Amino acid sequence: MIFYFTSTGNSLYAAKHFDEELYSIPQEMKKESRNYKAEKIGIVCPLFEFDLPSLVKDFILNSQFETDYFYIVMTYGMHHGGCAARNADFFDKAGRHVDYFNTVKMLDNALPVFDIEEQKKLDPEKKVDEHLAMIKADLEEKKHYIQPAAKEEIDFYEGYKANAIDYSASVNKPRYKVSDKCIGCGICTRVCPMGCISIAEGRPVYDYTRCFGCMSCIHACPQKAIGYAALKEKNPDARYRHPQIELAEIIRSNKQI
Ligand SMILES: Cc1cc2nc3c(=O)[nH]c(=O)nc-3n(C[C@H](O)[C@H](O)[C@H](O)COP(=O)(O)O)c2cc1C
Repeated sequence: MIFYFTSTGNSLYAAKHFDEELYSIPQEMKKESRNYKAEKIGIVCPLFEFDLPSLVKDFILNSQFETDYFYIVMTYGMHHGGCAARNADFFDKAGRHVDYFNTVKMLDNALPVFDIEEQKKLDPEKKVDEHLAMIKADLEEKKHYIQPAAKEEIDFYEGYKANAIDYSASVNKPRYKVSDKCIGCGICTRVCPMGCISIAEGRPVYDYTRCFGCMSCIHACPQKAIGYAALKEKNPDARYRHPQIELAEIIRSNKQI
């Protein structure tokens, strides 16, 4: 069993490589109780600010897993900041033994930090499919491995923390703005994993109390009408979905309403 979360398709693309049954975390979170039993159980999700997304942590903390082999694979864009090693405490407190924790570098979809068009040029050197094949082989032999935090990654993480983009400053405040290009199609409401968005008078209305900033609404908007309100984007005209993942798959994975 693999439980996955994806905002723009990278993690779903990765999860599909591991030949396991796939379950979407936003869909599983609708269930009142979550008890899972399988020989191997995995989590595949993006890295947000050098960490597991809050939705994924909630899922891990509030589900029961009965398995001989629990693994995590995170997709990230540029720096994982030693996420695997740094989360040892979280998993100890959650009472969840992790057998394998690895990361795979893919396109970085963080709009305030990167221009997606520039990111696309870096794709070939990331050798995504080769890395996924290596991880797949590890999982097949139930390898035990927790990715260590290299000094360079720790330094990067510490440096980021000192000058961090303050995403939390926009929690409960208008994080996004919607331009006149909006045609009220409602795709944003269907890709949001938290059901934060509704359409009123032909325009999206956000409930920011639950939004954790995954950017799926911004990237999926066919009109490029949604953008950051408080933060400046590197390229407001560049949006992303993994080229081998359909919009319908993101909707099926995330839709709440
Ligand atoms: C809010 C947010 C924060 C992110 N933080 C990081 C980060 O700290 N380091 C990094 O390398 N990539 C970061 N990224 C990039 C994603 O981890 C990366 O593009 C991931 O593969 C996206 O997967 P998905 O398409 O399955 O959502 C961030 C993306 C978002 C939206």
